[in-house]
Amino acid sequence: MTGRLAGRTILVTGAGRGIGAALARGMAEQGAALVVTDRDEPEAAAVAQSIRDSGGHAVHARADVTDRDDVRAAIALAAAEFGRLDVCFNNAGFNEPEKFLDITEPVWDRILRVNAFGVVVGSQEAARQFIRQGTGGKIVNTASIAGRQGFPSFAPYCASKAAVISLTQAGARALAEHRITVNAFAPGVVRTPLWDKLDRDLERIGEGESGFDAMAGDIILGRPAEPEDLVPTAVFLAGPDSDYITGQVIPIEGGMVLV
Ligand SMILES: NC(=O)c1ccc[n+]([C@@H]2O[C@H](COP(=O)([O-])OP(=O)(O)OC[C@H]3O[C@@H](n4cnc5c(N)ncnc54)[C@H](O)[C@@H]3O)[C@@H](O)[C@H]2O)c1
Repeated sequence: MTGRLAGRTILVTGAGRGIGAALARGMAEQGAALVVTDRDEPEAAAVAQSIRDSGGHAVHARADVTDRDDVRAAIALAAAEFGRLDVCFNNAGFNEPEKFLDITEPVWDRILRVNAFGVVVGSQEAARQFIRQGTGGKIVNTASIAGRQGFPSFAPYCASKAAVISLTQAGARALAEHRITVNAFAPGVVRTPLWDKLDRDLERIGEGESGFDAMAGDIILGRPAEPEDLVPTAVFLAGPDSDYITGQVIPIEGGMVLV
């Protein structure tokens, strides 16, 4: 297969829908072989099937990013099916809003475990595979504008995405000696199923006016992102054109947080 990512094997977590599914499909169109992983196996299977139906290469695995054995098995599948792993996208994440004064320990723990510790596990296991192969590799994390700016009803989520940015920087310094780069992209407001639940949850806690439409209203390019808007940057970060970039966070948000 030809394309900017031909010959590369790429694993994406949380790829059963939303941003991860769009990245998997978009990178497959550029010739990459995809390992589509998600906690929700049928959704991951459907995305892998749609890639194969379009003439691409893909397998799927059920993997919860907080379960190291799951992540190891998905990476082993990449090596077994395609011979090696070249890029790991740590994309899985979720939000569960609470007003600042109402933040609870279980919600804090759940969000930080998936959004932050999940990135630790994915980065470690991908890096171990790259080191075993002796090839170097690329790790790409899904951060958020919420990691750069605190939003009052999303504090645990914001903290988790600030952690993703810190892990991107720490990982870049830790893994450079193994020819592994670690970068992130930071979406703003992207039209995905994440927002369906988030809008309902915001309504429930009396913050309905701060949902998708309100946040999208602050975007200076005048519209929210579609998941496909993120694909060109993902292709860039997964491909050879970004080889001399590490420890960086690329905002893709139509102009929301200007710093
Ligand atoms: N949608 C946005 O506006 C937006 C903005 C900035 C950042 N993000 C981030 O982008 C990433 C993808 O979000 P999305 O909007 O596509 O969400 P989504 O809810 O549409 O999709 C997320 C996927 O991740 C999976 N997932 C959740 N927890 C998991 C776990 N523990 N292990 C494995 N898979 C798990 C879900 O099953 C789902 O398929 C997340 O990290 C999110 O925080 C989204």
